[in-house]
Amino acid sequence: MSDVKVYDVLPDAAAKAHINDKQYQAMYAHSISDPSDFWAQQARNFITWFKEWDKVQDWDYYTGKTRWFEGAKLNVSYNCLDRHLASRGDQVAIIWEGDDPKVDKKITYRQLYEQVCRFANVLKERGVKKGDRVCIYLPMIPEAAVAMLACARIGAVHSVVFGGFSPESLKDRILDSGCQVVITANEGLRGGRSVPLKANVDKALTSCPGIHTVIVVKHTQHQPTWQTGKDIWYHEEVAKVSTECPAEEMDAEDPLFILYTSGSTGKPKGVLHTSGGYILYTAMTHKYIFDYHDGDIYWCTADVGWVTGHSYIIYGPLANGAVTLMFEGVPTYPDASRFWQVVDKHQVNIFYTAPTAIRALMGKGNALVEQTSRKSLRILGSVGEPINPEAWEWYYHVVGEGRCPIVDTWWQTETGGILITPLPGATPLKPGSATRPFFGVVPAIVNNEGEVLEGEAEGNLVITRSWPSQMRTVFGDHQRFIDTYLKTYPGNYFTGDGARRDKDGYYWITGRVDDVLNVSGHRLGTAEVESALVLHEKVAEAAVVGYPHDIKGQGIYAYVTLMADVQPSEALRKELINLVRSEIGAIATPDIIQWAPGLPKTRSGKIMRRILRKIAANEISNLGDISTLADPGVVDNLIETRSNK
Ligand code: WT7
Repeated sequence: MSDVKVYDVLPDAAAKAHINDKQYQAMYAHSISDPSDFWAQQARNFITWFKEWDKVQDWDYYTGKTRWFEGAKLNVSYNCLDRHLASRGDQVAIIWEGDDPKVDKKITYRQLYEQVCRFANVLKERGVKKGDRVCIYLPMIPEAAVAMLACARIGAVHSVVFGGFSPESLKDRILDSGCQVVITANEGLRGGRSVPLKANVDKALTSCPGIHTVIVVKHTQHQPTWQTGKDIWYHEEVAKVSTECPAEEMDAEDPLFILYTSGSTGKPKGVLHTSGGYILYTAMTHKYIFDYHDGDIYWCTADVGWVTGHSYIIYGPLANGAVTLMFEGVPTYPDASRFWQVVDKHQVNIFYTAPTAIRALMGKGNALVEQTSRKSLRILGSVGEPINPEAWEWYYHVVGEGRCPIVDTWWQTETGGILITPLPGATPLKPGSATRPFFGVVPAIVNNEGEVLEGEAEGNLVITRSWPSQMRTVFGDHQRFIDTYLKTYPGNYFTGDGARRDKDGYYWITGRVDDVLNVSGHRLGTAEVESALVLHEKVAEAAVVGYPHDIKGQGIYAYVTLMADVQPSEALRKELINLVRSEIGAIATPDIIQWAPGLPKTRSGKIMRRILRKIAANEISNLGDISTLADPGVVDNLIETRSNK
């Protein structure tokens, strides 16, 4: 890898940037040598506190105690709204671009403030109090931002569920977090098609007796099934209440939200984030990593159903008084130049998207990009999965015309904000590398025995000390938090990712080292897909692995063993695919199902996934040691029938 291309910091980017390389070095050194002093300064700089903290940090990677700014008081919605009113009440806060290119809307900070206050009052009238959990199952419409901020305003804990998840997944999340209220829309719109959100909620609620209220945004003309008393229209309720609602004084460590994410085992975990550290870290990273300056138009294409949407569409940007663009649609509708058309239409300066979208658009040819201007663009971002150098180069040269630094930002639902990333005015770029740690972040690479590797190294990526927006616990299961993240390499936070560090200290994320898949930047546990498959009465056993996929990054490859007297068929394959879609959602659709008369197992009965991954990737020439298998013949059979997929 010695011939890796290096792109020096662009002179224009360096001239404009908040932080140049010298400042990065100095600030990073300060953040490591005296973290409490560093974070106290940042906390005063970025956040308005009702009362300052007693102690900046207090954490322990053995017990899983994580506290930042303990004793401090603040309100996150106050930081995103109220404090901006005097200086930028009439400035646009949210530009909303609908699925239909003819439909858009601009909302100023004052309008957003009033909508949030009104909706907070509606929640209060329905009995929602500080600490209560509220489920948000909405499309990408401004009401999603309003609902999140309204919860934050009254101290309720939101749990946003991505609108692409099935009723079954929604139900699991509602039950696990103990929500009493769901906020949804009659329908969502994506790529010209409607998504039956309210109908999905109705299905989920057949087994959620705790839900007493469903607040429905009327987004299309469709009239959903209605249960008087339980179902109420958003527009009718907000019209009845006041535009003032005092912001609840919250402790820095009071919960802000729960967001479910997949792990290597069991059902998705409720990742819990709290208030003070989270809002500080997302505001600060948003400003420095995207080099946000007042008046810039910033667009992150994620969905608010994922952490990227929470931290970098809503909380970080709004805390900074930014103009944040929310897009309801998809990159390929009405055609595959939509992203660039929206960039021109709203004069977007900073654009943040996922490698899977870049690869998909790259495949449609340069003409669709080149027919647009994109002159407004200044900074490009990437998130969600490793970006391959080919896609990076295309993004840099074709989309950015060589004028815009790319920030390849590595982070996770659990980290709350970006941990490893370039800074546009400070970091020379290497295509495919997330480069260097952000302030206060100390990554390390350990081998499987847990020994820390120095210098150039490859192994498992851990973070050796806490940072303000670290997840605090798994909701309702602190032991699972400790077991998942802190037990593997004691004294460290284990990311689940593999990484390589090069001679310049740059990090290259190599992908998950556990049984977590990353399909189009969406995270899925292999165990979740397997559990869905074995629900079918004709399925005896299933093993799911990821395999390299040109556009999705990883595809889903399922090995399925049928019950003794069942014959495989096309019809059965379709049934299984539909089963997974209805259990989890369309994002979990298996790409390949291979009928497997037997699975490779050790004598103790453990499935050897390493072998299944190799067969799926068609790397059958180096299967490694298969002598420990109970029946090595199984492997030959899987290889022979592989082409029958
Ligand atoms: C996993 C976390 C963070 C917001 C979106 C995903 C992978 C994320 C990168 C990147 C290489 C990346 C990792 C990580 N990942 N960003 N820039 N380069 N890999 O959040 O759903 O919690 O997934 O996404 O494997 O562990 P998430």
